[in-house]
Amino acid sequence: MSPDRVVITNDIRHILGQYLQEHSFSGIAVLVDENTRQHCLPHINELLENAVVIEIPSGEVNKNLDTCKLIWQLLTEACFDRQGLLINLGGGVIGDMGGFCAATFKRGISFINIPTTLLAQVDASIGGKLGIDFSGYKNHIGVFSTPDHVMSDPVFLDTLPEKELRSGFAEVIKHALISDAEYWPGIAQHEFSAQDWPSHIQHSIKIKKQIVAGDPTEKGLRKILNFGHTLGHAIESYFLTHPGNHLLHGEAVAAGMIMESYLSADKLGIPGNEVSEIENFIISVFDKIPISEKDLEPLIDLSIQDKKNEKGIINFSLLKRIGQATYNIPVSRLEMKEALRRYMSIR
Ligand SMILES: NC(=O)c1ccc[n+]([C@@H]2O[C@H](COP(=O)([O-])OP(=O)(O)OC[C@H]3O[C@@H](n4cnc5c(N)ncnc54)[C@H](O)[C@@H]3O)[C@@H](O)[C@H]2O)c1
Ligand SMILES: [Zn+2]
Repeated sequence: MSPDRVVITNDIRHILGQYLQEHSFSGIAVLVDENTRQHCLPHINELLENAVVIEIPSGEVNKNLDTCKLIWQLLTEACFDRQGLLINLGGGVIGDMGGFCAATFKRGISFINIPTTLLAQVDASIGGKLGIDFSGYKNHIGVFSTPDHVMSDPVFLDTLPEKELRSGFAEVIKHALISDAEYWPGIAQHEFSAQDWPSHIQHSIKIKKQIVAGDPTEKGLRKILNFGHTLGHAIESYFLTHPGNHLLHGEAVAAGMIMESYLSADKLGIPGNEVSEIENFIISVFDKIPISEKDLEPLIDLSIQDKKNEKGIINFSLLKRIGQATYNIPVSRLEMKEALRRYMSIR
């Protein structure tokens, strides 16, 4: 897998224009959903006069094989050959699914990602994991393949709903916590509305690229990116089945990072003042998730299922200190339950 080529720009039209001029594609298609068509496509529309616009309905529920069939069908009807280019203009759903469709169409055509959510800019568009959900399992079908280019422009965040911005912020926090202690105070000393998004995008991309380069196919080191995600995923899935309580990925991961900081104290001895800093900051930004005693057993069952580990022990990625993570730390059911309870007791 080739490394990610990422540019961060304040002038997406210029960067994309240059790229299109330097290459001669036999055809261009741009994949959007109804929101990115409305808010993001106008930024680059004038470069894409002859492009086929493929619009799919937004949302994770559509990141599936039926939507892929539609994308492949429209590429086929447009007589796309292997010299064609697919531009994925959208959040992680568009990037993951558009990339997967491009990487498999006629055994692979060129594609570029123009991520338009914070989550996609700082996380999903980097690292080459592409795919779709299948039969109730997230990201169950997919491939590793990198886009020809990732072009990130903070301008897209201007139209992003605040809830989505906050969700992406969880991954920014995670990147500092797992590998850059020096960057952490610059995050933690500012409230949400005063965060420096262009700097965070730059920083997160640097960290994620470094980690992925050391372990492209997740044999080891890359697992540290799962900090906050073991309990976070369980919370995300659990609340999916609770109408009215739908959580965004980052909201669940934020809670997961607090809980997994408690586990980091128990298992790896991260200092108590660092745990308090993490807890206080995350709670100041994200609403506390209403978890009650009756939720604990099903939540823990879900995280065990998620990792397909029947012995009741799960391996976590935890922090030794702020800025230093380690992986494959076994945690028992009881320890998980204690971490969940401690989160529940935060005032
Ligand atoms: N491949 C990876 O390594 C990786 C990593 C993390 C997450 N992901 C995947 O990413 C997906 C989540 O991504 P997401 O959070 O970007 O969600 P998303 O793609 O669903 O976008 C969130 C919402 O924002 C809208 N939107 C996007 N850009 C906008 C803009 N600029 N202005 C207004 N609205 C806009 C979208 O239409 C959508 O309704 C999940 O499927 C997850 O599995 C992949
Ligand atoms: Zn995540």
